[in-house]
Amino acid sequence: MSGSTEQNASRRTQAESILTEAAHTARSQEVTDTSGAVLRTDKCTIRFGGLIAVNSLDMAVREGEIYGLIGPNGAGKTTVFNLLTGVYEPTEGEIYFQGKRIDSLRPHQIARRGVSRTFQNIRLFPGMTVLENVLTACHIHSRQSLADAVFRTPRFERDEREQREFCLELLKIFGLERFQNEGGTSLPYGNQRRLEIVRALATRPKLLLLDEPAAGMNPAEQEDLIELIRLVRDRFGLTILLVEHNMKVVMGICERIQVLDYGKPIALGLPEEIRNNPKVIEAYLGD
Ligand SMILES: Nc1ncnc2c1ncn2[C@@H]1O[C@H](COP(=O)(O)OP(=O)(O)O)[C@@H](O)[C@H]1O
Ligand SMILES: [Mg+2]
Repeated sequence: MSGSTEQNASRRTQAESILTEAAHTARSQEVTDTSGAVLRTDKCTIRFGGLIAVNSLDMAVREGEIYGLIGPNGAGKTTVFNLLTGVYEPTEGEIYFQGKRIDSLRPHQIARRGVSRTFQNIRLFPGMTVLENVLTACHIHSRQSLADAVFRTPRFERDEREQREFCLELLKIFGLERFQNEGGTSLPYGNQRRLEIVRALATRPKLLLLDEPAAGMNPAEQEDLIELIRLVRDRFGLTILLVEHNMKVVMGICERIQVLDYGKPIALGLPEEIRNNPKVIEAYLGD
């Protein structure tokens, strides 16, 4: 009797472990599935002299997701953004956006296709008001000709009005509308970071790249930022690639996370998988 109970129990544990393994395999396939990627890099590498800043990076970001790119200082995260936006051309490998190769395009051509970014070191235009900073970014999609602008045609007037309304709506979402006439660079730090995001959104991107948007923010501002990033993703149907050092922000917002260490991708997974990944923990301990 007792033998058969034991046998049953052993069969059950065997069945359970097979099921757990199957579920795990299914989930990792889901995590690494590259179909439906709006942004894809294929063995992307860049060398600066002897340094390999990004080393054979495969990345596939799905339409509409918030994808985290993390890693210790100097891991190559900002360099990835510079590759994706055409600041650098990869030494090897390819980059595709919406199925088309973009790795040899100029930055303004990539921007026109709908890729917009913020900078780790804030780069607002000095001497411009908050609203002017945003309006300037808006103009990359302007349909006006020089003649429209010179003669202030009805089309010019209508476009100007629409763009202004759109910029003010964006400022309002980020709680910056009341500062519209103040100098952009005279805002407190947290608000300058938010203004950078507004400015990136004003180009009506499909893909938004955020480089350490929470840097220097206090915990309340960070909470707020998490909500705002989700809100703009939903509202504007964006795909977001987020580089961020603050783990609370990363874990609180990203749907999948990829980890770089010395330019090499060392892990890709769901937030809880990344949090518990020994390779990731080791990379960060040395940071
Ligand atoms: N233009 C460049 N010339 C030489 N080295 C560079 C250049 N840009 C970045 N690097 C180097 O590449 C590595 C990755 O830098 P970066 O992408 O800024 O890292 P992260 O953003 O992850 O902190 C660093 O060692 C950095 O010094
Ligand atoms: Mg960086």
